[in-house]
Amino acid sequence: SRPAATAVAHPNIALVKYWGKRDDELILPVAGSMSMTLDAFATTTTVELLEEGAATDSFILNDAPASGKPLERTVAFLDHVRALAGSERRAAVTSVNEAPTGAGLASSASGFAALALAASTAYGLELDERALSRLARRGSGSASRSIIDRYAVWHAGTDDESSFAEEIEAPDLRLVIVTVDAREKAVSSREAMRLTAQTSPFYEAWIGSTEASLEEMTRACAAGDATRIGEITESHALRMHAVISSTEPPVRYLAPGSVAVFDVAVRLREQGVPVYGTADAGPNVCLLTTPEHADQVAAAVEGLGEVRVVGPGPGARLLD
Ligand code: DP6
Repeated sequence: SRPAATAVAHPNIALVKYWGKRDDELILPVAGSMSMTLDAFATTTTVELLEEGAATDSFILNDAPASGKPLERTVAFLDHVRALAGSERRAAVTSVNEAPTGAGLASSASGFAALALAASTAYGLELDERALSRLARRGSGSASRSIIDRYAVWHAGTDDESSFAEEIEAPDLRLVIVTVDAREKAVSSREAMRLTAQTSPFYEAWIGSTEASLEEMTRACAAGDATRIGEITESHALRMHAVISSTEPPVRYLAPGSVAVFDVAVRLREQGVPVYGTADAGPNVCLLTTPEHADQVAAAVEGLGEVRVVGPGPGARLLD
């Protein structure tokens, strides 16, 4: 039988966001970030090496042959794995996402984390967690964090070796995910990130502010301070959306429905509930809260979108 491996990985939601690259080719970020790996929305990916002489890779995503950008990025990633392994063999990649497509959770993070583990194993590379995180980073920056269990810090680093994610201790938390709009976003994070670096007058301030947020977040995690973790998460997320809306031409991901969810968090906080919002490059909002308050928060956003409560989950794993 031909060499093959199957891996599963989950998306992650950043509490301190990655937004901006110092190196597009190596995917080195301008600042570090911190995230929760989710216990839901798994991506399962199988990589099987083809016979010597096969001319092209294939990529089946959710039962349909992929083309365009997704295929290009997968082939480029396999080229990188082949270079590391000293192999020229092509591969067949099959991937299935549990996340509803377009919900903003069928993310490149779980996809490239699962692909990094399955491909490196099929090509015979034996990578430790750090090397796997660095490899996943080359597919998509945020994928470096989906390798890691529960909570991850991605150290910005200064070169390929020093830019990787590792686990950080943090209190048990829940994210109430509110899908206010399941349509595909108009501008990809990759594109909008580049536009921010090139055109925002606030970009330098954003970088400094992210470094400060990560330092504070690290302290709040060490102290087990869920409230402080939430406060940093919400301010930082809104700063990211501020710098994104300051581009030329402007990009705006938050919709009226997103703002309504942030307003629910404000209202609940007035009642003493520790709940804080965050959103990635799209309109869907995640509310961060403690396990004890998750049901109350979920009930409070009912009617504002599809609601799902998730907690910290495992990093990338091989399946037999
Ligand atoms: C808003 O990891 O998708 O979700 O490295 O270009 O593939 P590339 O970008 P990607 O960007 C994620 C952006 C974010 C914030 C985050 O996850 O930290």
